[in-house]
Amino acid sequence: KLPSQVTLVEVGPRDGLQNEKTPISTAIKVELCKQLIEAGIHRLEAAAFVSPKWVPQMADGADVLAGLQALPDLQDRTVSYSALVPNLKGMEAAIEAGVQEAVVFTAASEAFTQKNINCTIAESIERFKPVAALAQAHNIHLRGSISCALGCPYQGEVPVQNAAEVALRLRDIGVQEFDVADTIGVGTALRVSQVFEAVGYSVGLNNVAGHFHDTYGQALANILAALQLGVSTFHSSIAGLGGCPYAKGATGNVATEDVVYLLQGMGIDTGLNMHKLVQTGAWISGSIGKPYTSRAGRAVWNK
Ligand code: HMG
Ligand code: MG
Repeated sequence: KLPSQVTLVEVGPRDGLQNEKTPISTAIKVELCKQLIEAGIHRLEAAAFVSPKWVPQMADGADVLAGLQALPDLQDRTVSYSALVPNLKGMEAAIEAGVQEAVVFTAASEAFTQKNINCTIAESIERFKPVAALAQAHNIHLRGSISCALGCPYQGEVPVQNAAEVALRLRDIGVQEFDVADTIGVGTALRVSQVFEAVGYSVGLNNVAGHFHDTYGQALANILAALQLGVSTFHSSIAGLGGCPYAKGATGNVATEDVVYLLQGMGIDTGLNMHKLVQTGAWISGSIGKPYTSRAGRAVWNK
């Protein structure tokens, strides 16, 4: 059942940077995106049109997208840019900025939804209805992110079925792709198989992506578990950057370099240039004053 090809949606510029306390310049964000695209990334989560009071680091999303669209070297690349949109206001900003994909986000846990977007799961779905209508009218691919599918920092255990139920409700309002997220990286392989199987029963696995944070070092094992079910889209963050402002202690997404190493070793095509990714990972880590923590990235860098 293993896919022969996997698409990595690079979320470093959004999930990777959103939690950084020191403001990162728009120029660095644009340069990061540029280098990722040069490494072969063609689906890039570049911004979040959320309240700047809640997540100040993402306040310059429109400028980042404008900067990218103005770069002459990228004109011949086909890149699908995405942005998080919590509500209509965010969706309007995303359209204005010219994204190809928008991401509404809710959770498999009530407690997390409340902390993250200040409403219940049911209210979030209601809030997304006009967002979905606008996405459809503008021919924007609509994704729905389901946080805490494998566990919640506030309520702990999350029943296996929850993500599948939320996915169905999202599909009913027009969401086209489902990002099943282990926000705090607590999931382990068997549970991942169960949760993704349940999601597969509800919406099919063709349009499901795995979004794994690596807090407990389980992300690669979890990706393997999902791959074995046939999931062929995963989210990753260059250099493993990141964390979630509403999930204390959560570390970054699985590092793009680590996933590429895994997939290359399994003979699964990603279309990505490992060497270029490693240069980018080392560069962005240094630029924001962090040690370079991708395991595969460091190994390649030190060779
Ligand atoms: P609220 O306070 O309930 O909303 O926040 P509100 O409608 O009352 O608005 C409050 C203020 O925010 C108003 O401004 C609005 O104009 C403004 P004021 O009148 O006070 O000056 N506002 C906005 N500004 C810019 N863009 C917008 C927007 N909407 C309202 N779109 C809201 C509700 C959803 C807006 C807020 O809770 C929010 O922005 N939350 C975002 C939280 C967030 O970004 N979390 C991180 C991303 S999710 C994630 O990382 C998980 C993921 O990676 C998957 C995983 O790992 O689990 C995707
Ligand atoms: Mg995340």
